[in-house]
Amino acid sequence: MSEFREALDATISHLESLKRAGVTHLPVRAETLEALSRPVAPSAPLAAAPPAAEAQDMFAERIRYTGSTKAEKMASLRKQALACVKCKHLAASRTQVVFGVGNPESELMFVGEAPGADEDAKGEPFVGRAGQLLTKIIETMGYKRSDIYIGNILKCRPNMPEGESGNRQPTDPEMQTCLPWLHAQIDIIQPKVLVALGAVALRGLLPELSGGITKLRGRWLLYRNIPMMPTYHPAFVLRQYTMQNRRLIWEDMLAVLERLGRPITPKMQNYFKSE
Ligand code: URA
Repeated sequence: MSEFREALDATISHLESLKRAGVTHLPVRAETLEALSRPVAPSAPLAAAPPAAEAQDMFAERIRYTGSTKAEKMASLRKQALACVKCKHLAASRTQVVFGVGNPESELMFVGEAPGADEDAKGEPFVGRAGQLLTKIIETMGYKRSDIYIGNILKCRPNMPEGESGNRQPTDPEMQTCLPWLHAQIDIIQPKVLVALGAVALRGLLPELSGGITKLRGRWLLYRNIPMMPTYHPAFVLRQYTMQNRRLIWEDMLAVLERLGRPITPKMQNYFKSE
């Protein structure tokens, strides 16, 4: 099937899923309507689909954004990401693209795995139970959630088999296809520190590393010259809600605050020590 046909099918599926979700109208620009009403000129035959590796490069090439401020660049990138249908199965199953949220001028950026059902419904990363824990951690660090930037490796919720709830991990091809959006987000923000939340975020950002999150958490790494702290995913901490796990994730955040030269009060220092 041609890339055009695949993109068309994915667009149709996406529109159908919006309809199922109750959306009855979509804004369409006047120029688009005008262009759609024109007869289609006979065109040259479509080029054969490029091999997978080439298609990947072409996709990375296409991520260009405009604007002079970080906010303008992020808005330009977001607009393109919201229309992405590169993974046609995810474009068909998602409610919406979950691009990222927060301050593009932030000194600190958190990277998670992929949207879950709550995020897919709301269009914002980390708004479910794990998100509530992340927000609590951010606030305990002395920030507001809106001060920092939060993104994911995958911008669409990994689809689940018909009738099954819950979440699944992103596959490698899904990650490879989606990662250029995250790389571009980080390029725009240029945070002073990145936090990789869990094994999938760590593998997505530094695929060359061997060793799991249990071994690597708490150790400073570098992503394109940006200091990166890998730590546990909040969902893991919720699943194994032990004093040890809560203390470890908090210790990693204290190291982040120290690196950023942020104030650390004795109370912050002593969390989870006296319980
Ligand atoms: N888990 C993630 O990794 N990301 C989200 O946005 C929500 C839950």
